[in-house]
Amino acid sequence: MLMRRDVMMEPSVSTHGAEDSPVKCTELEDDFVPSKLGTKEYWDDAYKRELQTYKDIGDVGEIWFGEESMDRVIRWMEAQNIAENAAILDIGTGNGMFLVELAKHGFSNLTGIDYSIAAVELTINILEEEGLKNVQIKVEDFLNPSTELKGFDVCIDKGTFDAISLSPEDREQAKTRYLNSLRTVMQPDGFFIITSCNWTKEQLLQIFKPGFGLVRELPTPRFQFGGVTGNSVTALVFKRVD
Ligand SMILES: C[S@@+](CC[C@H](N)C(=O)[O-])C[C@H]1O[C@@H](n2cnc3c(N)ncnc32)[C@H](O)[C@@H]1O
Repeated sequence: MLMRRDVMMEPSVSTHGAEDSPVKCTELEDDFVPSKLGTKEYWDDAYKRELQTYKDIGDVGEIWFGEESMDRVIRWMEAQNIAENAAILDIGTGNGMFLVELAKHGFSNLTGIDYSIAAVELTINILEEEGLKNVQIKVEDFLNPSTELKGFDVCIDKGTFDAISLSPEDREQAKTRYLNSLRTVMQPDGFFIITSCNWTKEQLLQIFKPGFGLVRELPTPRFQFGGVTGNSVTALVFKRVD
C-alpha cells in the first residue's frame, strides 16, 4: 500500500505542501512574478527529494490539489463514456499518481510525460509497485515535444500549466508554445482537461481561446473571503475546435 500526501488547498491564500512549496496560489493577479518555481532545476531538485523519500519510506509525495482533483476529472470522463482505450496524456505527470488512478478506473492507454528525469524515475517506481506495466512514461519537455508525442484523445494538465506560467523566461512565448504543443499532440476532436490554481476560468478561456472551446467547468470547492466568493482551484474541460 503506497503512502499518499493529500495536499489540500486553503481557502483564499494557499500554497502546496512544504514551505518551499512550488506553485504559489494566492489571490489572482493579472500577472505572476516570474520565479525559480517555473524552472526545470526547481522541479529536478524537488523530485530528487521526493524520489529519495519514496525509496526510504514509500511516501509517493504530494497529490496536487488533493485526491478530489483526480476524482472529479475521472467522474467527468466516465460520465462522458470516454472509451477505456482512449489515448490519454498526463502533461507534467510529477509522481504519476493521476496515471495510477486512471488505470484503476480501467483506462488502459495511458502516457505520462515530465521534463524532470527524477519525476519520471519516481513515476516508474510507483507504477512498478502498483503492477502497472502498460503505462508509457517519458521524459519530454512539453514546450518542445518529440514528434512521437501525438494522437491523444484526452490531454490532462494538473498544475503544469501553472508551473509553466511562472517561468522566468518569456511567459508569453511559453504560453504560445504550450498551445502549439497541445494542438500538435491532440486528435482534432480531443479533450483538454486543465486544473489550475493560478488562473481563473475567465483567464483560461482567454488563453485557450485560439483553438479550444469550453465544454464544461467541473465543480470545485468555493470559498468566501472579504465578501467575495470564488474558487481556489479551477477545473475546465476544453474541446479542440480548429
Ligand atoms: C505542480 S507539479 C504537478 C505534477 C502533477 N501534474 C500532479 O498533479 O501531481 C508541475 C509538474 O510539471 C512539470 N513540468 C513543468 N514544466 C514542464 C514542461 N515544460 N514539460 C514537462 N513537464 C513540465 C514539473 O516537472 C512538475 O512535475
